[in-house]
Amino acid sequence: MRKPTAILMGAGSRGSDTYGAYALRSAKLDIVALAEPDEVKRNRLAEQLKIDEKMRFKDWKELLAVGKIADGAIIATMDDLHVEPSIEAMKLGYDVLLEKPMDRTLEGAVKIVHASEKYDKRVMVAHVLRYTPFFRKIREIIQSGVIGDLIGIEHKENVGYWHMAHSFVRGNWRKTDETAPMILTKSCHDMDILYWLVGKKCSYLSSFGTLTHFRKENMPSGAAERCLDCKVEKDCPYSALKIYLNDKTGWPQNVISTDLSREGRLKALREGPYGRCVYACDNDVVDHQVVSMMFEDGITVNFTMQAFTSEIDRRIRVFGTRGEIQGHFGKNEIKVVLFGREIENIKSEYVNDNFGHGGGDYYLLDDFVQMLSDPNYRDVSTSAADSLESHLMAWAAEDSRLNNKTVDMNAYRKNFL
Ligand SMILES: NC(=O)c1ccc[n+]([C@@H]2O[C@H](COP(=O)([O-])OP(=O)(O)OC[C@H]3O[C@@H](n4cnc5c(N)ncnc54)[C@H](O)[C@@H]3O)[C@@H](O)[C@H]2O)c1
Repeated sequence: MRKPTAILMGAGSRGSDTYGAYALRSAKLDIVALAEPDEVKRNRLAEQLKIDEKMRFKDWKELLAVGKIADGAIIATMDDLHVEPSIEAMKLGYDVLLEKPMDRTLEGAVKIVHASEKYDKRVMVAHVLRYTPFFRKIREIIQSGVIGDLIGIEHKENVGYWHMAHSFVRGNWRKTDETAPMILTKSCHDMDILYWLVGKKCSYLSSFGTLTHFRKENMPSGAAERCLDCKVEKDCPYSALKIYLNDKTGWPQNVISTDLSREGRLKALREGPYGRCVYACDNDVVDHQVVSMMFEDGITVNFTMQAFTSEIDRRIRVFGTRGEIQGHFGKNEIKVVLFGREIENIKSEYVNDNFGHGGGDYYLLDDFVQMLSDPNYRDVSTSAADSLESHLMAWAAEDSRLNNKTVDMNAYRKNFL
């Protein structure tokens, strides 16, 4: 069978470390052209993938201007550059793998759903958690009925203190106006997985959360605008020197510069956004948030996003009328406790843990390959239409948080659909 082909827009972190890496290491997909304005990133990935010089473009528009040259299009540009590339790619006849969030606005996400219907093109959204063996196993257990009727879920997203500092204080997703609220940029994965596990829609939702810690008034005395000039750096857990000035070369170190020599890193810390004191940035997204939800049939769900954790992880407890599931994503451990019976410990099959998100990245791309290989494959787990629900929940949570109100999701959906 012919290997499916794809074009790639954006050779940043996701474009290179996930999509490029899959094409290289799995040998199931050929990336035949890419667009990336940064010359170093563009050529580095293109060399690895052996992409002809003529097929390396600076901008996604130039890449699409050559017409349809592959089976699918992967869109891994930043959040504000998803709608136009997706729609133009579909117009040309491409099926699309689109990074989450679909767009930084709900209107944009709805446009993508409509375009997918209008051009009859399949869009997969990179809601990677749905593809993890861990969450698939939990869903399978819920659906088997062994824990009885589903009553509720408690789900926690432990962002991790340094990850918070990297992405949401100093980095790409620190400002709502430039990207979107954190409940969308980070936790749309969690809204999506909860909707998918419950298998029903959310009826009511309310949320609280603030930016409490990473603010100017919390800057310690002796601190400076940049960690390199800071007198109390050694005592600061969020020190950029601790996070970036070490011998590691993967994420997040490779985000600060394409030059990972000591000089290159020092230059980035002196001049770039990642060298800034966490108390002197232009961030405004929350550092902790909770969302309480009532789904159809009275199923209650609680979600907590917490920056102040030592580990980057997710934990979940699922409550049924005859038993409980306890899941620790980072350890890939699932415990099923049937009331009055023995505890069953389950390890979900975990084949490719050197791919990110607990294997989710790998299986997402396997599904993309399957979609491209089979024109009749309509069973995409994360279609644009289905992915819209998590975006609606995230925006409703932001509305609730900002306006201190409970959102009636049926009424809220009607505003957009
Ligand atoms: N699914 C997940 O779990 C997950 C995880 C992290 C990030 N993301 C999402 O992936 C997307 C990319 O994130 P990232 O961390 O790779 O960001 P990034 O900034 O590292 O990569 C984006 C790339 O797009 C390039 N670009 C900018 N303008 C372009 C243009 N006109 N044409 C082509 N390329 C252009 C940039 O130069 C950059 O290299 C974001 O939407 C982000 O929210 C998803």
